[in-house]
Amino acid sequence: MITLEPMEREKYFSYLHVTEIKKKRDQRRLSRRKEAIQRRRENFELVNLGVCLNEDVGPQYGLWMNSLFPRVFSDLKKHSTNNNLLTASLFGQKLAFDFSFQKYMNMRELDSLCSQLKIIQRINMKADYPFDLWFTNYEHGSYYDQRLRRLIPDLDKSFINFHSKQLIDLFPKENLVYLSPDADTVLWNYDHDAVYVIGCIVDTTVHVPLTYNKSKGKNIKCVRLPIDECLEWYDGSKDLPLNQVVDILRHVKDTNNWRKAMKHVASRKWNKVKKEEHILQNIEALKKDFLIS
Ligand SMILES: C[S@@+](CC[C@H](N)C(=O)[O-])C[C@H]1O[C@@H](n2cnc3c(N)ncnc32)[C@H](O)[C@@H]1O
Repeated sequence: MITLEPMEREKYFSYLHVTEIKKKRDQRRLSRRKEAIQRRRENFELVNLGVCLNEDVGPQYGLWMNSLFPRVFSDLKKHSTNNNLLTASLFGQKLAFDFSFQKYMNMRELDSLCSQLKIIQRINMKADYPFDLWFTNYEHGSYYDQRLRRLIPDLDKSFINFHSKQLIDLFPKENLVYLSPDADTVLWNYDHDAVYVIGCIVDTTVHVPLTYNKSKGKNIKCVRLPIDECLEWYDGSKDLPLNQVVDILRHVKDTNNWRKAMKHVASRKWNKVKKEEHILQNIEALKKDFLIS
């Protein structure tokens, strides 16, 4: 120590100081955690016995407070969510996402796409009857893959099917239905056996009918959501964010009610939902021109 230069000695002391503080902080954290575990252990038996729903102070857990409502632990909630997702992956309707449009997006748009996909994963996870999600044309290790993994840490446990293959290699062509805001045909009769396909595109700068062109090129059915038919629309783009499209599809799948489903479109974009008879008139007009699916 004596041989050290004054500057080096100062550095060495500051290093000792910092490590000492870290050590003490870790010790404090450890003892706090131990106390919490101890407390939880002491309360465990009481807490586990039952719950009394007291209107003034909320639920009270304890001895002899048994009722019909046992406490739902977070583990149980997770288990039931996983159960729903597992059932969906075996018997649920497939909903596909086409990731082949990456080259048309800049970094900001890709980031926005990933945020929307994160919302979709959460919506689907919480649904009573979730979709079986398929990410097709998916490039592992790509920018969006890394970004998604950062946003959804347990992506691999989310029951999403990842495939680098194209849609037509995965599903029969006659079952596929592309969703595109540029389609001529309107989706009205929701088909529970179809595999609806959503284009993974966020095009805030230039609007190109990418999904429409792709579906025409591959000879796949293409439909749009009945926005004009159901909503009094303000002036604005009818390209909806992916999460709103999934919300609408989920609602229609479960209730077959387009009027209510279309309320998932951001309310700043429309004035009001059209009356039932108005909507039916619109649909009849479409039927005459064979523009309905
Ligand atoms: C932001 S939009 C991208 C629009 C893009 N220009 C295209 O060619 O699809 C993202 C995706 O959500 C779906 N989508 C958005 N609005 C829709 C609408 N009004 N009708 C049907 N699908 C829609 C489509 O699958 C679309 O690819």
